[in-house]
Amino acid sequence: MVLDILEYPDSRLRKIASPVAAVTADIRKLVADMAETMYTAPGVGLAATQVNVHKRVLVIDVSEARNDLRVFINPEIVAAEGEAECEEGCLSVPGYYDKVIRAAEITVRAQNEHGEMFELSTDGMLAVCIQHEMDHLIGKVFVDYLSPLKRARLSARLRKKQRLAG
Ligand code: NI
Repeated sequence: MVLDILEYPDSRLRKIASPVAAVTADIRKLVADMAETMYTAPGVGLAATQVNVHKRVLVIDVSEARNDLRVFINPEIVAAEGEAECEEGCLSVPGYYDKVIRAAEITVRAQNEHGEMFELSTDGMLAVCIQHEMDHLIGKVFVDYLSPLKRARLSARLRKKQRLAG
């Protein structure tokens, strides 16, 4: 089932997600719905926060063929190194892209949809995407990293868009 995606500056994007106590059938259904929502949008990642479910669950697929779904339940970054600047976008901020500096290499520990713990060390787009999606779980949106001037311009643009939408 395709879920509705909250759009910035919706205050529900600011909620802090709770850890998943057990990876139940309900969580697997959430994962399946989030994956469908991400692929339909289309996007490379989605956090449960963005579909107004405040649990520590992410889905990501940065592959070109769109056949490499990765599920992160209760993700924690256990190591981070270096800096990389990358242009980011977000399904909750449609049509806006900007550069953000993040750790270049990370090691993340999480559970998969079967509740199994795994550890992944990665860099490049996957590392950026994991950090971006994990921010959503603590109520953070990538535009929070922009300068006050850029954020003011974005807000003006969104207000205009909302006026046009009536
Ligand atoms: Ni996002």
